[in-house]
Amino acid sequence: MPGKIIVTGATGNIGTPLVKALVEMKADFRAVTHSEGKASALRGIGVDAAPADMSSGQGLDKAFEGGKVLFFNSPFFPGMGEAAPGLVAAAKKAGITHIVKLSGMGADQGSISLAKWHRAVEVAIERSGLAWTHLRPNSFMQNYLAFHAGAIKGRGMFYAPQGDGAVSFVDTRDVAAVAAAALANPSAHAGKAYTITGPEALNNQRVAAILSEVTGKTVTYVDVPESAARDSMLKMGMPDWMATALLELFAINKAGYTAAVSADTQAVTGRAPRTFAAFARDNAQAFM
Ligand SMILES: NC(=O)c1ccc[n+]([C@@H]2O[C@H](COP(=O)([O-])OP(=O)(O)OC[C@H]3O[C@@H](n4cnc5c(N)ncnc54)[C@H](OP(=O)(O)O)[C@@H]3O)[C@@H](O)[C@H]2O)c1
Repeated sequence: MPGKIIVTGATGNIGTPLVKALVEMKADFRAVTHSEGKASALRGIGVDAAPADMSSGQGLDKAFEGGKVLFFNSPFFPGMGEAAPGLVAAAKKAGITHIVKLSGMGADQGSISLAKWHRAVEVAIERSGLAWTHLRPNSFMQNYLAFHAGAIKGRGMFYAPQGDGAVSFVDTRDVAAVAAAALANPSAHAGKAYTITGPEALNNQRVAAILSEVTGKTVTYVDVPESAARDSMLKMGMPDWMATALLELFAINKAGYTAAVSADTQAVTGRAPRTFAAFARDNAQAFM
C-alpha cells in the first residue's frame, strides 16, 4: 500500500462501494464526506472520516492531512474546472503525490458540457506535477435506481429521451473495483486513463425486457421528447444548467456515441464487469 488513501465523495454512487472495497482490503484510508453527520456515521463503523466541502474548500486541509493518494470525486457543476486548481493545491500542501480522478467517458473528446467540465479538472491535475490516473466511466447502471425505480415500482414504466440508443452502462461496483486497484498500487497506473464500461451496450427497450424478467412484471420504456424531459427535470427542482447538461448526454446516448465496450475493467481488476442482468437481480426489490 502506498500510504494513506483519501476518498472524497465517500458516501456517493462510487464512494460507497469503494469504501467497502478498501475496508475489505484493510487499506489505510480516510473517507471524506460532505456533512459531519455522515462522517460521524462512518466513524461509528470504524472508518476514519472527516467532512469537507469540495465547492468552497472548507475543511479540505484537515480532511487531506497525512494523505498520499487522493481519490478525486466531486459533484459536477459548470465551475468545476475553475475550482480544481484550489483542490489540487490543497492536496499538494497535504503531501499527496498521486491523484486518481473520477471523470467521465469521452472526457478527452469534450463533445458535451459534462465531458468538457471533467476534462478541465483532468488538465488541472495533469498540470500540477502530481502523478495521476483518470477513470472515465460510462453512465452508471445505478442511475436506474436513482431516477427510474419509483416510476417502475409505481407504474411499471420509465421515461427517457433516448430513442433506441444503446449504452454500455457500468455497475458502480466495477468502477469502485478499478478505483481500489489504482489507489492501492498507484505507480502501476500512473499516467493512464481508463474507460470503464459494462460488458455490453443495451438500449432501453432491452433494459425494460431485463427488468421485466427479473421483477416478474411488465416494465415498459417510454421514449419521450427532449422538451418533455426538460419540463419534468425542472419540475423536480433541477437547475436549468443541469437539465441542459443531462439532455446533451441523452442526445449522445440516443445517437449511439456511448455504446463502445472497453476491456479496461478486465485488464485492471482481472474480472469481467457485471452485466445489467446481474445488477437488476441484485437490486430487484427496488423495482418491484
Ligand atoms: N452518474 C453517472 O452515471 C456518472 C457517470 C460517469 C461519471 N459520473 C461522475 O461521477 C461523479 C459523481 O456523480 P454521481 O452522480 O455518482 O454522484 P454521487 O456519487 O451520488 O454524489 C457525489 C458525492 O459527493 C458528495 N458531495 C456532494 N456535494 C459535495 C460538496 N460540495 N463537497 C463535498 N462532497 C460533496 C455527496 O455527498 P452526500 O452523500 O452527502 O450528498 C456524494 O457522496 C460526478 O463527477 C459525475 O460527473 C457520473
